[in-house]
Amino acid sequence: MAVATAKTPDPRHNLAAARQAFYDKISKSHMTPLWEVLKDLVTKEPKPQGVPALWKFADAKRLVLEAGDVITAEEAERRVLVLENPGLRGQSRITNSLFAGIQLILPGEIAPAHQHVASAIRFVLDGEGAYTAVEGEKTIMSPGDFILTPNWAPHDHGNTSSQPMMWLDVLDMPTINHFEASFATHFDDKMQNTARADGDSLERYGSGVLPDGAPTRMNRTPVINYTYARTRPILERLKKAGDVDRCHGARVRYSNPINGGHVLPTMGAWLALLPEGFKGEPYRSTDGTVFVCADGHGATKVGDTVLEWGRNDVFVVPPWMRFSHVAAKESVMFSISDRPAQEALGIWREGA
Ligand SMILES: [Fe+2]
Repeated sequence: MAVATAKTPDPRHNLAAARQAFYDKISKSHMTPLWEVLKDLVTKEPKPQGVPALWKFADAKRLVLEAGDVITAEEAERRVLVLENPGLRGQSRITNSLFAGIQLILPGEIAPAHQHVASAIRFVLDGEGAYTAVEGEKTIMSPGDFILTPNWAPHDHGNTSSQPMMWLDVLDMPTINHFEASFATHFDDKMQNTARADGDSLERYGSGVLPDGAPTRMNRTPVINYTYARTRPILERLKKAGDVDRCHGARVRYSNPINGGHVLPTMGAWLALLPEGFKGEPYRSTDGTVFVCADGHGATKVGDTVLEWGRNDVFVVPPWMRFSHVAAKESVMFSISDRPAQEALGIWREGA
């Protein structure tokens, strides 16, 4: 027969007090009872903390231009306003795994060269003629261009044009920081030497041929800019051929020409054309997704929330929330998510 001590109430008389006393006791040994937290750890289905949210470009542009009055690109290192999911405030993230922000670089400014483990993509929103340099190659940025700076690739930005340049940055920082695997280096020189011809990697790797002797394995794309000028007409071809998915529209996946896989191991991206009057069927998947309307206008229903979007608006659909697009006029939609990472781990799921 159990004998109750002064510190442990007799469980036959006061079970709750006995349990709490036990929890307090094991806490001193840095232990905690799984049965008190199990249902929050092993949920029956995803329970995202993030919520559906949309940032109107007109507001983002006004505010990021105001940031241009208070800090230089060089002082800031990167002059970016973080798009924080309202359900994840204070965590510098738009989904649990992805960071997103709007970056501004003014005429004559340089965002100095650095490198980091976190991979980044840019989707160009506004302006024309600034450049991003990646691994010794410079690419001129135009609206709709999809630019990559993979893990540890040296990169810098500069604006030699006469107008402000704005783009959406998406990084896998929260994923890298989840693993506590972040490294970064800054260079003495603000700009890299760019020995390769401008736009070299798209011509070299994105034309159906590969340089003889190119690697047959590479876990990220060697192309640094998938230009809108090259990608947009392919959507038109799909539309004309009737290759229009009932959920996603006429959609291409940006791919790594070395192996046909995703462009990065941690992030994948897509560009879709939604024909005028398109009424998408509901879809959901475990990868929370960031969307940018590159052109057109319409609305996306996410759960019970309706997000109305126009050109350059950014919005987010949290994991496993059912969504459907409606296009009021022909629209082009960029999207990016952590799907490659989930696929590699064998945890990615989709459903209607
Ligand atoms: Fe960077």
